Amino acid sequence: MLDPSTDEIRDWGNSVIELITDYLGHLRDRPVYRQMSSRKIRDWLDPALPTKGIDLDSLLKVFREDIIPFSRQNAHPRMFGYVQSPGTPIAAFADLLASTLNANLTVWRSAPAPVELERLTIDWIRQILGFNAEAGGLFVSGGSMANLAALAAARQAKDDSSGRLRMYASSETHFSVAKAAALLGIGRENVREVAVDDRFKIRVDGLVAKITADLEAGYVPFCIVANAGTVNTGAVDPLAEIREIADRFQLWMHVDGSYGAFAILAESVRKVFGGIERANSIALDPHKWLYLPVDVGCVIYRAPEIVRATFAHEAEYTRIIGEEADEAFAFWDYGPELSRRFRALKVWMLLKGVGLDSLGDAIERNLACARYLESMVRASDDFEMVAPVELSIFCFRHVPAQLKNESAQVIDAFNERLLIALQRDGSSYLSNATVGGRFALRGCVLNYRTTLRDMEILLDDLRRVARSLPPSA
Ligand SMILES: Cc1ncc(COP(=O)(O)O)c(C=O)c1O
Repeated sequence: MLDPSTDEIRDWGNSVIELITDYLGHLRDRPVYRQMSSRKIRDWLDPALPTKGIDLDSLLKVFREDIIPFSRQNAHPRMFGYVQSPGTPIAAFADLLASTLNANLTVWRSAPAPVELERLTIDWIRQILGFNAEAGGLFVSGGSMANLAALAAARQAKDDSSGRLRMYASSETHFSVAKAAALLGIGRENVREVAVDDRFKIRVDGLVAKITADLEAGYVPFCIVANAGTVNTGAVDPLAEIREIADRFQLWMHVDGSYGAFAILAESVRKVFGGIERANSIALDPHKWLYLPVDVGCVIYRAPEIVRATFAHEAEYTRIIGEEADEAFAFWDYGPELSRRFRALKVWMLLKGVGLDSLGDAIERNLACARYLESMVRASDDFEMVAPVELSIFCFRHVPAQLKNESAQVIDAFNERLLIALQRDGSSYLSNATVGGRFALRGCVLNYRTTLRDMEILLDDLRRVARSLPPSA
């Protein structure tokens, strides 16, 4: 098992491919989710310490019978929860190849071609975003890590040890930003929450007021975090205006584009991202809207050389001897990780294999699905939107006739029960959001398999499941 022969490897490969094709071939027939309990799953899994090994067929049987059915099917076209990519076969193969080569992308000499491939792929992403030629960055585990790395760089750039640093972000900002501030010692309380307008975009007057008040009180503003697609409603903050404010107050502008930034590939929404290319840093997630499987996030810095002061570390065991310039390049100078897997391979295979035109078309279809849902909801008399659709996220609620005259609390509680019942039903999957203080059903179209028909099925599923619910608990 540890060191199989080439014939065994081929046999295993065939068995695995058969499993994959069977799984993907029947994706639509599976429930997105099945009711399950932790206890039950634990009982299935053999807990005995495995002193003797078993064969691959037995391992695959557990995967097929116990793991797949009791996982949420993230590749299913009606998996609308959270910000969940479906993955794609080309990337699954890329991950297999990356693990086979087992390149470790610490420095150039450790993995020359893989490092070049990461630099090339990062440069393609830079071009997609329209950043300056000197901009650069690296792949990290996800958007949270990208936000952390960028905020570490932003803090370093201010070079202030007074302990009075302050940063600014809208109240709709993902929690990973406040978490990064806590981890970096900036403190959650120094992330100033700025109110949003009726489209859930940051209010620039509120932003300026908060920065000005902090300056007057002796704080040291250092960074504005702008959203390019909020997690709740998909709102894109006014990026060009935020750049101007950042310039006026000499602040670092970071963009959290983890969910939305790749939608810049879609013609119909491209212009809302105007100004993104002038950010000092951006977090974005190929494992969201490039459809790739976890884990691959990305951080791009406008001036990577400034960032080296944040992450570079001299130690004898990492000293690069006898190399120059390009070959002395070390990813650890630009991010928190040392050992790094070959994430670039799946990004490269996807971009090169699929091409930007097809990816843009797929994103455009996702946007169209969300807009179609919105139009159906607005035309119905039993659903209502609670936020406008900006990208591919939709927030709404079900208000069947018998609840029309009920209080907000009753309607919210009904929708909460509806959400749980829908998830347990398994045909479609939504998650939830709090929008304007109220409970909302929330969906995000992030799957190239999703069709307009799936959006109709979602509403049918909700109506069907709702009919089986008592109007109040
Ligand atoms: C806007 C936004 N920022 C950051 C994150 C965190 O990304 P990750 O889960 O890759 O760490 C998310 C996740 O959904 C997100 O939507």
